[in-house]
Amino acid sequence: MEILENYPLKDITTMHLDVRCKYFAEYATEEELIELLLSPQYGLNRSMHIGGGSNLVFTRDYDGMLLHSRIRYISKIAASTQTVRLEVGAGVAWDDFVKHCIEHGYYGAENLSGIPGEVGASAVQNIGSYGAEVCDIISRVNCIDTVTMEACHFMHDECQYAYRDSIFKHQHSQRYIVTSVEYTLSLKPQFTLTYGPLKALAEKPALSMSDVRETILSVRNSKLPDPREIGSVGSFFKNPVISTQQFGKLVATYPAIPHYPIDDNMVKVPAGWLIENAGLKGHSIGGAYVYEKQCLVIANNGNATPDDVVSLCKHITQTVNDKFGIELHPEANII
Ligand code: EPU
Repeated sequence: MEILENYPLKDITTMHLDVRCKYFAEYATEEELIELLLSPQYGLNRSMHIGGGSNLVFTRDYDGMLLHSRIRYISKIAASTQTVRLEVGAGVAWDDFVKHCIEHGYYGAENLSGIPGEVGASAVQNIGSYGAEVCDIISRVNCIDTVTMEACHFMHDECQYAYRDSIFKHQHSQRYIVTSVEYTLSLKPQFTLTYGPLKALAEKPALSMSDVRETILSVRNSKLPDPREIGSVGSFFKNPVISTQQFGKLVATYPAIPHYPIDDNMVKVPAGWLIENAGLKGHSIGGAYVYEKQCLVIANNGNATPDDVVSLCKHITQTVNDKFGIELHPEANII
């Protein structure tokens, strides 16, 4: 365990911007984490915990300490005839965990195939895709309390999960560091095939989790940039939720607008569609551009500066608001 100074963030964040942090440190155990929390570099500076860096946009150098978990294990801690409970270290790559579940016949994570990032962040961000959200399988989140330096935990119901949201993004954002997450998965086949491209699989005889994974990976590959090749944070914006009344006016003008009813009063509309139909597909500012195959993504052509990304984000928000009267909010964590 070492505290590195003036550390470049280009390769530890998927947006690949040329920014640095004052200190960077990784730890492989809870004891090492506590040692870091007691260090003067931590005590005297602001700090932040990062995962796979796949949802973070640093708009300038970070004048503080970044921490990163290398706590990596997957343990079966309980099982019944119906379910299995796994405890997984926060530093495990999310998709390695999904692969592990599929290989072992544990159902429930397969719709979240191919999402970049790590297990710890999955529980903070409540990652979701293809009709599933990680909170559907989270039972408990284990943490270190940075005030008492003691281990503690939050049961699923205490995490206040919502769309890309949890208690760890708000009142608990600085205080608790996730060290491991407990997931409950099903041993009995059960699939969620409600999302468009997965619907066709419902007809497939002897459907397997690998079939679901392959379908999802091919849709993702066709729409989303591979973060190893093209810098991005996946969805840059959240899909906005608007009133049915506002939606009624919108659909009268744009009958083809895709939409997902939330309840009797609210409708979710895809930000990607709004951005595309505001005429912004491919639009660029400096090295930052709206990704042509999925306008929800801001991509880096390799030369984007933080200012390019911030300016493009503002331009998109303004243009969509002018055209549709809908305010977009970033999904990515902008620092
Ligand atoms: N659309 C367009 N133009 C675009 C993008 C989308 O017209 O440029 C339309 C599509 O044709 C479709 C609708 O908008 O009718 C929705 O698009 P898509 O199915 O691609 O999903 P999304 O709403 O854009 C969300 C998540 C993704 C997740 C997919 C699949 C958010 C903010 N994004 O995207 O999550 O992979 O659903 O479930 O909820 C991420 O969080 O980084 C991420 C990629």
